[in-house]
This record gives sequence, structure tokens and C-alpha cells, in this order.
Amino acid sequence: MSNKVKWGVIGCGGIAARRTIPELKKLAANAELVSVMDTNAARAREVAAQFGVPHACATEAELLAQDVQAVYIASPPNAHCRQTVQAARAGKHILCEKPIAVSVAEVDQMEAACAQAGVKFMLAWCMRQNVYHQQARELVQSGALGRMVMGRAQLTCWYPPIPGAWRQDIALSHGGALLDMGTHCLDLLEWIFGSPIIEVTGFTDLLIHAYATPIEDTATILVRFRNGAHGIIDNYFNIPDAAAQNALELFGTKGSIIARGTIGQEPTGQMFSILQAQETGYDAAQTRDSQPNRREYKLEGRGIYGQMITLFSDCILQDRPPPASLADGRHSVKVVNAIYQAARERRVVEVAA
Ligand SMILES: NC(=O)c1ccc[n+]([C@@H]2O[C@H](COP(=O)([O-])OP(=O)(O)OC[C@H]3O[C@@H](n4cnc5c(N)ncnc54)[C@H](O)[C@@H]3O)[C@@H](O)[C@H]2O)c1
Repeated sequence: MSNKVKWGVIGCGGIAARRTIPELKKLAANAELVSVMDTNAARAREVAAQFGVPHACATEAELLAQDVQAVYIASPPNAHCRQTVQAARAGKHILCEKPIAVSVAEVDQMEAACAQAGVKFMLAWCMRQNVYHQQARELVQSGALGRMVMGRAQLTCWYPPIPGAWRQDIALSHGGALLDMGTHCLDLLEWIFGSPIIEVTGFTDLLIHAYATPIEDTATILVRFRNGAHGIIDNYFNIPDAAAQNALELFGTKGSIIARGTIGQEPTGQMFSILQAQETGYDAAQTRDSQPNRREYKLEGRGIYGQMITLFSDCILQDRPPPASLADGRHSVKVVNAIYQAARERRVVEVAA
């Protein structure tokens, strides 16, 4: 095998053309893009021309018959399972966008196909590639925040009704703001804490937008991690982009980490910590002078989608297991299912084992 993985892209829409393809070309020295496919053939041709890709296809079969070793699946979620199975049977390694699939049964089929074909699968948890998130995780896991008490992750966007949009057709998307954006936030907190979510509750509503089908535009979720810490995940399709905070907030017995704008497609953001060397005695005055312990982080971010391609290409070239697995994806489906059930039944639901 050469020192570059040959890639194909399935689904050349927003995220592929805006982020992953340009960042693959610019940042991933161990990857080469040889073919793109979209059910909209004109779209595939347009993207191929824009990025100088040798082949443009209108079917998966055509792309999978070509000399590609890995595919990036960035089609709507209801196609992820079928395309993963098809790609695995053709012997291709798979990087699949979130949400991984629309049911646990689909994840089982994907896992069986990948195991049978001996191909690698990675879920596109790109938020793990943000340099601030990596720093926050290191601090939490080194014990710098003490015992973890609470983590909050927010991701929002303004997403009005758009005729024909798959996200607004529940038969294709299977969910709204929670599934689309909350899955990133749920994984990010679990990954930072190193602890899975075991119990959930929350509200999901269609508050503002008149979508064609009832997907939620408002999701405010409360979770408990196995380590005992609580979490808040808030996702909205009805807040102006300029007003969004995309906040990451982590609190423990020795301090906090506060980030703004890191949960998103840009590799940037701001972050500071307020950390004490140890848990302190009781201060009846509850002094809140944070300056002595405040530290700002100025880290250099690199495109998170390009890093994902580099990481998975390395896993293929060096025959290593990818860090975001099918098991993570199955867990993610179970957490989201439990949240929708909790919201529907207005109660706390345990995440299925
Ligand atoms: N990781 C992230 O930050 C991130 C961001 C946005 C979207 N996504 C995910 O990426 C996927 C695509 O989202 P998007 O925003 O790019 O959507 P999009 O609507 O902008 O693009 C989807 C593209 O897929 C094509 N398509 C539709 N059905 C197809 C099929 N069966 N096979 C191949 N192509 C097909 C469409 O013609 C379109 O060009 C979704 O799973 C979404 O959740 C991830």
C-alpha cells in the first residue's frame, strides 16, 4: 500500500463540500481524493470540478468499483446503514457521518458487515478534534478539576423551514435539533469525562418553526454520567447564529473550564479555566475573586474535518483500531432513543445496556 489512502466521498452536499473535501485536500497529507458520488449527478460533477477530483459518480456501485480504499459517507442518516453495508462488502474502510444510523438494529447490521469484510469503521465525531476540547479533556482526566460535578454542552443554529430539506422530513432525519446537533454534544461530554451517560430526561419541543413534519427545534436535556456527574445538553434550531454561545462548561470540586464557540465547524474558540490546587475549606463569604486562578488558553486550531481524515487514514495505513467505534455509535443511538422516550413519557429513562 502506498503512503496515501485513496478516498471516495458518498454524498457531496453541505458538510462534504464546505469542510471535509477542502480540508482533506489541504490538511491530510496521507489521503488522496479520487472519486465523489451523489444521487444528484450534477452535484457530484460540480464538486469534482471544483476540487479537481478525477471521478464523479451517480451510484454507490460505480464508486465502490473504483480504486478507492476508504469512503466518507456524508449522505442523509437514513442511507448510512445501507451504504456502510454496501461499502464494507466492497472491501472499503468507512468513515461515517453522525448520526451513525437510525436504529440499534441498523448499527448491528453495519457492525456485522464490517466484521465479516474485515474493514475498519470510524464515526465522524469531529468535535473530538478541536484542540480546546482535547486540552479540556486532558485537564479533566488528569484530575485538575477535582471530582467532576457538571458538564454542559450547547450547539445551536438558526434553521428556518426549507422546502425539501431532509432534516425537516422526519422519515429521513428521524429527529431534529437533538439528533442533528445534540449527538455531538453528548459524545463530547462523555469523551471528556471518560464516563458514559446512564440516565436521561428532558424536554424536546417544536416551539418556533413550522416545519413540514414534527421534528424538534428545541431540546433541553439533563443527563447523569456513570461517574455520578450531571450534564446539560442544549440544542436549538431557533436562535440567531450571531447570538449562539456554543458553550462548553465543565465544573468540578477544584474548578471550572469555560469555553465559547469551540463546539462548531470552525477549529477555533475561546477557553479559560479557574483551577485551585486543592479542594478548599469552607468560606462563609463565598469569595468569588477568580483572577488569581484564571488562565486563558490560546491554542492553534487546525481543521477538525481534515484531522479526522488524517486520523482515520493513519488507522488504515498503520492497521490501528479507530478511536470512535461502532460501539460508540450504538451507545449514541441508545442515549438518543432514551432521551426521546423520556421527553415523550415525561420521566427519567435509563440508557439501555
Ligand atoms: N460532523 C458535522 O459537523 C456535520 C455537519 C453537517 C452535517 N453532518 C452530517 O453529514 C450528513 C450530510 O449532511 P449535510 O448537511 O451535508 O446534508 P446536505 O443536504 O447538505 O447534503 C446531502 C447530500 O447528499 C446527497 N444525497 C441524498 N441522498 C443520498 C444518497 N442516498 N446517497 C448519496 N448522496 C445522497 C444530496 O444530493 C446532497 O448533495 C448528515 O448525516 C449530517 O448529519 C455532519
